[in-house]
Amino acid sequence: MIQITGPSFASDNNSGVHPKVMEAIFNANRGHVVAYGDDPYTQSAIGKFKEVFGEDTEIFFVYNGTGANVVGLQAITSSFNAIICANTAHINEDECGAPEKHTGCKLLTLPSPDGKIRVEQMEHLLHVIGNEHHAQPCAISITQATELGTVYKPEEILAITQFAHRHGLRVHVDGARICNAAASLGIGLREITRDVGIDVLSFGGTKNGLMFGEAVLVFDPALARNMRYIRKQTTQLASKMRFTAVQFETLLTDDLWLENAGHANKMARILEKEIRGIPSLEITQEVEINALFVKVPKEVIPKLREEFFFYVWDEENSIVRWMTSFDTKEEDIRAFANLIRDTVKTIKLFH
Ligand SMILES: Cc1ncc(COP(=O)(O)O)c(C=O)c1O
Repeated sequence: MIQITGPSFASDNNSGVHPKVMEAIFNANRGHVVAYGDDPYTQSAIGKFKEVFGEDTEIFFVYNGTGANVVGLQAITSSFNAIICANTAHINEDECGAPEKHTGCKLLTLPSPDGKIRVEQMEHLLHVIGNEHHAQPCAISITQATELGTVYKPEEILAITQFAHRHGLRVHVDGARICNAAASLGIGLREITRDVGIDVLSFGGTKNGLMFGEAVLVFDPALARNMRYIRKQTTQLASKMRFTAVQFETLLTDDLWLENAGHANKMARILEKEIRGIPSLEITQEVEINALFVKVPKEVIPKLREEFFFYVWDEENSIVRWMTSFDTKEEDIRAFANLIRDTVKTIKLFH
């Protein structure tokens, strides 16, 4: 077990719950309402999503991000299909094979040094369409923002969705950090998803101030036909749905989603500015959301982690991930940056 005593830069998953969200959970804890989503809280949260994404959007609340991806992907696949994604995709690397197990699909992974995939890489994968010996590509899954903290621009997404639709494929977005991406681009949630042709979106909440809960958004009602059964069969239907729903209602009220994600992103930019000039550090990815990927001398890692816990992302190349959150404080960034500066200096002297 790792015991974290102070602020950490490990993950936005490590933060607590936004006070407004906690209050909403508390306030929903009154009396009985009908279970499984047939309640006023859930209806109201669905209404909020429809205001943002359009009346004909179908919304399915689930428990976690893996669940959202697995439920969402089942809407657009059959077990003889293949899903194209980045080799760095969460669905490929971090979901214990859940997407393969639940969809039955083969994942066709593409190399992605910056977390993004591009149409030019996909073209050759479609030559097998119609050949019964091959798993049939039918979906592209991209992550926005990516696992490497980069962000697809709307035109990059449009290029992928146009390519996909031209060939009869559908596009899913793992949007565990969709709010951070929208905040980074300075545009709306609809503009980077539905309006650029996305079919199914895993909308993240947990990393942006919720206690738990994600939502699967389906933009083509025909695709949503079997979603209720898929969600239940995938064990993602919460009986006490109101407690998931009120969290989303809160997140979508008065742009709390933007305030939280914008703050987390801003903290990462401050950290970037603080450490940019430090010798022997190399920022390896563009800092576009709330994450920094930094190559650091191996020797400094234990000392830094003693005070501010974080994960080593790539052991071999000594690349660490420093991640901020909706509740990261500027003073903690400054203290962390000072510690990095001092520790790097000591190591250099030592050499
Ligand atoms: C890109 C991405 N997708 C999905 C998830 C959700 O995973 P979980 O099932 O742990 O909520 C995460 C969490 O780390 C993630 O980073």
